[in-house]
Amino acid sequence: MIRRNFVLGAAALAATAPSLVACSSSASQEEIARNLRRPGDVNAGDRAQLLRELVRYATLAPSSHNTQCWKFGLQGSLITIAADLSRRCPVVDPDDHHLFVSLGCATENLVHAVLANGLQASVNFDATGAGAVSVSLDTTKAIISPMFQAIAERQCTRGDYDGQTLSMDELRLLEKAGSGNGVRVVLLTERSAMEKVLEYVVSGNTAQLNDPAFVEELKAWIRFSHDEAVNAGDGLFSGATGNPAMPRWLGSRMMDLFLTPKSENERYAKQIRSSAGIAVFVSDVSDKAHWVEAGRCYERFALQATALGIRNAFLNQAVEVASIRPQFAAALGLGTRRPHLVVRFGRGPTLPWSMRRPVQSVLV
Ligand SMILES: Cc1cc2nc3c(=O)[nH]c(=O)nc-3n(C[C@H](O)[C@H](O)[C@H](O)COP(=O)(O)O)c2cc1C
Repeated sequence: MIRRNFVLGAAALAATAPSLVACSSSASQEEIARNLRRPGDVNAGDRAQLLRELVRYATLAPSSHNTQCWKFGLQGSLITIAADLSRRCPVVDPDDHHLFVSLGCATENLVHAVLANGLQASVNFDATGAGAVSVSLDTTKAIISPMFQAIAERQCTRGDYDGQTLSMDELRLLEKAGSGNGVRVVLLTERSAMEKVLEYVVSGNTAQLNDPAFVEELKAWIRFSHDEAVNAGDGLFSGATGNPAMPRWLGSRMMDLFLTPKSENERYAKQIRSSAGIAVFVSDVSDKAHWVEAGRCYERFALQATALGIRNAFLNQAVEVASIRPQFAAALGLGTRRPHLVVRFGRGPTLPWSMRRPVQSVLV
């Protein structure tokens, strides 16, 4: 993310005063981010080590604002994934929808990693209390699937894409991957439908950027420099959007000066027009169980896309602003169904990688 358009100001500054934005530790941030995605050593027969390695794969999942809002419990043949409510984002996500979607994304990674290690996962969502996912494990034949192999390569790629269409076979695979239990993905590839989505992205983005509380919350999750990103291990690293890294005091000032609805909306228009299509994840029922399921469907979609060399990035503004969401659903002909996530996709280069916290800090 750093989905707001302070990119223009930052890029302009980088061009005129490169010494101000240069950061010596970029190589190490890149290296650390890559290392997080390399398989760990697991000694045969060391169950505890294997479970921690499975959790590492789960944590490579996307989460809203990269909050990594999950807590994993390891109990013999059971892994639980609960919400870390201290990582809520009350402004952008007042009903914790994105938080539970994020748990679903982590669950999906876990399912593929478990299978690659000769275990079969049975997933259950327990709605009591705050609600948590439990994954019980049984022995089975190991399958290293293309989706498993894509876990370490997946990223939310927020750059422009190449404007090329995808084949029908690719679209069919994405549609299959993105549909699940009570959740389905609607793929929009007609330019007129994509322009319609853009209208609502622009409305949502304008409303959000005119809300000081939204901007303040977003800023709190931005990691402006390499050091800040490495030290926190979470949040929205500037480099992951192709923005220059810079000290916090400067990044924060740039954001205040240059983050405007107009420039950001122009950026979204360019990004949507360079994409092959837009995926909207919807369900008839909207409760925590379906939010988790939407996360699982999205993550399968993203892993399938990655396996095909296709990138994707979220554009959730229209579903995040509660007053715009029903109008957006109606414009897409979804009736009263809840659109959960809006994602553009297409081919293009990767961007720098986001960070993750160490596995021990997400274990309970
Ligand atoms: C539920 C959910 C909502 C998200 N919404 C947005 C969004 O609106 N815009 C955006 O750029 N990224 C969005 N993201 C992507 C996260 O910011 C991203 O996953 C995180 O920064 C980690 O980066 P990575 O996915 O590349 O590893 C969302 C992710 C999730 C799971």
